[in-house]
Amino acid sequence: MTIEKTFSIVKPDAVKRNLIGAIYQRFENAGLKIVASKMVHLDATKAQGFYAEHEEKPFFNELVEFMTSGPVMVQVLEGENAIYSYRELMGKTNPEDAACGTIRSDFALSMRYNSVHGSDSPESAAREIAYFFTEDEICPRD
Ligand code: PPS
Repeated sequence: MTIEKTFSIVKPDAVKRNLIGAIYQRFENAGLKIVASKMVHLDATKAQGFYAEHEEKPFFNELVEFMTSGPVMVQVLEGENAIYSYRELMGKTNPEDAACGTIRSDFALSMRYNSVHGSDSPESAAREIAYFFTEDEICPRD
C-alpha cells in the first residue's frame, strides 16, 4: 500500500458556483483525506509560475486570466495511490471526454472552466505542494 500526497485546486468557476463543499465531499467519499487547505486569490505572477510548463501553449494567457479571475481553494490530499486515484476522480481535462460520475463530468463547464486541478506525477505533486504550502501547514492524519 503506497500512501501518497497530491496537490489539488478547486478552480474559480467551481468556487463561484458554490461547489467547494460538493467537491470536497467527492474527495472524502473516495477515501482521500484533506491534510491542508486554504483559499487564495492568485495574482498573475503566482499563476504564471504554477503553469510555467505550459508557457508556450496557445491557451497559456487564457489559463492565467481564468485562474486569476477569482478565489480558488488549494489543498493537499492524502491517500492510497493518491496521485492516480485523484486523477481518476477528476476525469479527463475536457469534460466532454470525462467519464460519468467524475468531478469534471458532473461539474466542469468546458476545457477552460474545468473546475479542478490535480498533480500528474510524484514530481509535480512535490513541486506543487511546496509552491503553496510550508511543511508546518500540512497536518498528519490517522
Ligand atoms: S497539454 O497540452 O496536454 O499539456 O495540456 P493539458 O494537460 O490538457 O492542460 C494543461 C492545463 O491547461 C488547461 N487548458 C486550458 N485552459 C484554457 N483554455 C484551453 N483551451 C485549455 N486547454 C487546456 C487545462 O485545464 C490544464 O489545467 P490544469 O489546471 O493542469 O488541469
